[in-house]
This record gives sequence, structure tokens and C-alpha cells, in this order.
Amino acid sequence: MTTTLLRGRLLSFRRAPLSLADSESYLYETDGGLLIEDGIIAAVGAYADVRAKAPADINEIDHRPHLIMPGLIDMHLHFPQMQVIASYAANLLEWLNTYTFPEECRFVESDHAQKIATHFYDELIRHGTTTAVAYCSVHKTSADAYFTEAMRRNMRMIGGKVMMDRNAPQGLLDTPEMGYDETRQVIADWHGKGRNHVAITPRFAITSTPAQMEATAALAREFPDLHIQTHLSENHDEIKFTCALYPEATDYTDIYARYGLLGPKSLFGHAIHLSDREADAMSESGAVAVHCPTSNLFLGSGLFPLKALVRREKPVRIGVATDIGGGSSYSMLRTMDEAYKIQQLLGERLNPLDSYYYMTLGNAEALSLADRIGTLEPGTDADLVVLNAAATPAMALKMEVVKTLPEELFLLQTMGDDRSVTETYVAGVAVKGQLSEAAG
Ligand code: GUN
Ligand code: ZN
Repeated sequence: MTTTLLRGRLLSFRRAPLSLADSESYLYETDGGLLIEDGIIAAVGAYADVRAKAPADINEIDHRPHLIMPGLIDMHLHFPQMQVIASYAANLLEWLNTYTFPEECRFVESDHAQKIATHFYDELIRHGTTTAVAYCSVHKTSADAYFTEAMRRNMRMIGGKVMMDRNAPQGLLDTPEMGYDETRQVIADWHGKGRNHVAITPRFAITSTPAQMEATAALAREFPDLHIQTHLSENHDEIKFTCALYPEATDYTDIYARYGLLGPKSLFGHAIHLSDREADAMSESGAVAVHCPTSNLFLGSGLFPLKALVRREKPVRIGVATDIGGGSSYSMLRTMDEAYKIQQLLGERLNPLDSYYYMTLGNAEALSLADRIGTLEPGTDADLVVLNAAATPAMALKMEVVKTLPEELFLLQTMGDDRSVTETYVAGVAVKGQLSEAAG
């Protein structure tokens, strides 16, 4: 048995915080100990108590004065868009057609997919993200590369082969039959292997014919436990085009509802411009709206009304995500900084406890995976991030006047990035320190 004892300040949420003063919503140990046995958290608490339970000769790693938290979770990003990031476009549809679709065509080549997969996991680890939910390309080769690398790194990853059969270049199209068959094959090859989860992944209604949506509906019926991911209501031109393609539907959300794709495992990227009816439908079905702030700002898509959606009589479940490569940073800290600014523009407050809840337990709950990830609870996976709020000279200077935990968290979110990630643990193993630094 491999056992490790980590020492540091521990922070883990128990539930969504009700306010900045809600100290009951989280566990905070200023001198904490975390005992890990075979990749699973075995004990958590005050260092002296946990140390007493551990063997005398245990491998002990002292992370003081840094914060040890559950690994960060990214609920929506695109594995084949690492070389799309930072593309100059006027809006979503121009960005997709000019840069994104041509780039994704390259993933038919498994050498290319494997090369990008290596970089992809390196970036997640560098940024303290231990679980992510990704779109692969339409090619099965891309899903194979994605899940092969996840298994090699023993990471809990969710992903899917994209299904798309219209309104894109020929090299990026499947057919309803191919999309169905290949998704079934990806499920057979990868779901439940290592820590992998396969998601049913129709890209969005614009790139799927009604026949492909029927095939997606069949997959959702056959595999009711799998996540479903797609895009919803991101941009006004996109919404108009989509509704014109499905004139029988009441609105964009209703298109997915008609094909049985609205449910508690459904993850809808963006969902910025929902009507009240759509938000009600999302709420009643338990579907999740995944907020992608850096992408929404970068593509000029709009301001996601996070607080208003949570406050509704029928609240909408929320996830948060980078949306690489529409998003502009791999960092969930940078992501929540932009989420905060979006709420500011809407006259709302997103407090720092909210932010750290969303990046960890909140996203785990939105994935129905809180029994495995997102907390420091004994029995769950030892996927962790170690954060340093004084990682740069400017941060260290500000830290001199920081007095409370929420102030420290807010500083980390406002000024932090991968430099603040001291270490990342995957199933109890420190993996960030092993990465080779990029040349240059
Ligand atoms: N809608 C459909 N595909 C995409 C994509 O790749 N990125 C974003 N941001 N929106 C999409
Ligand atoms: Zn997306």
C-alpha cells in the first residue's frame, strides 16, 4: 500500500456557501493533515490528529503555508482547440468557420491527436485541473487519443466524440449512422476504463440534422447514466439560425427537449440568453448551464446571469468552465476572475467563497460526481491542488496586508494563474513537478 501524509492549510466545501460569512459551509484547517492511501483520501483533520493515525515512517510532504484543496474541475473545453486559442474573430460563427472547423479537421490524424493530447493533459495539470469535461473532434481517433492519455495519467476525465453531420467542412462531418456507431464504439472502448467517463456529444443543433438528433436520442435512451454535452444559446445570431433550422420547436432549449436530451446528466455550454420558459425547463429537468466566462467575453457572446439563475424560484444548476479554445485561459482561477467581473457588470456580487465552491464541489455536484471528487472527504479520490497566494512579487506584496481566508482566496482568483499552483496531485501522486517546462 502507498501511503502519503500531506501537511498544509486545508480547505474543502461541504455545501454551497450562503454568504461570505457562512463558515459552516466549508472545512478549514490552518494546520491540517491529509492521509492518502492508494490514491484515496483516508483521513483529514488537524495535523496532530491525522499524524497520530499514520505509520511513524510515512512519506510526509509539508506544503505549509500553502492551501491544499480538492483538484479544480473544468466542466467544458475542447481538446482539439489548443491551437485555436487566441484567434482573432468578430463573433462565434465567424470564429467557428474561420479557425475552429479547419483546425479540428487535423484530428483525423492520430499522430496529431496524440501530440495534442500530451499537451492538453500537461496544461490541465500545470493549472491544477484534475478533472475536465472535453469535446473531442468528430473523429474517433481524437477520442482514442484523449482517453488513452487520460488512462496513462490515471485522471478522472469525461469526454466524447463530437457528432456533427451538417454546416461544417466535409472533413468534419459524420452521418447519423456513423455518429451513432462510433459513439457506441467509444463507449465500449473507454467508458469505465481507468477513471474514464464517456459523454454523448452532439456539438449543437446547427451541426446536427434532425436525423442525427434522433440518433442522439437513441443513445441517450440506451445509456441513461452517461453525461450528455452540447451548446445552447451562446450568441444571438446562433440562436436565430438554430431556431430557423428547427421551426417546430418553441425555442432553442425545446429543440434538445424534443429529442429527450434535457435531464440531470445534461451539460449545456454557455446558456447565456435563456428565456424564463427555457430556464424553467432547465430547472425542472435538472439540466446544468455551464458558464464559460473568458469565452463569453472573448467572443463577445454576452453576460451570463449566473446569480439571477441561481436565485430563481426554479433555480438552474450551474457549472463553470474555461471553454478552451473560445476561452482564453486554461486557469480556473482566471476563469473565476472573469466570472466575477461579469457579475459586476450585471450589478451582482460573486463572492470568493462562491468561486471556490464552484471550481470544486459545485462542479462535482453539477457532474453528479461529488461522491468521488470535489472535496477532501475520506473515501474520495485524492485529486488535489496546492495553491500559493504569494506566487509572484506583486501577489506577495498584497499578501502582506491580507487578513482573512476570503481575502486570500480573492487575491488568488484576481491575480493568480498557473504560477500559483505549487503542486497538483492525481490519485495521490504529485504530478506537476514532473512536467517538463516549455522551452524558451
Ligand atoms: N458552439 C458549437 N461549437 C462550439 C465551439 O467549439 N466553441 C464554442 N464556444 N461554441 C460552440
Ligand atoms: Zn464549447
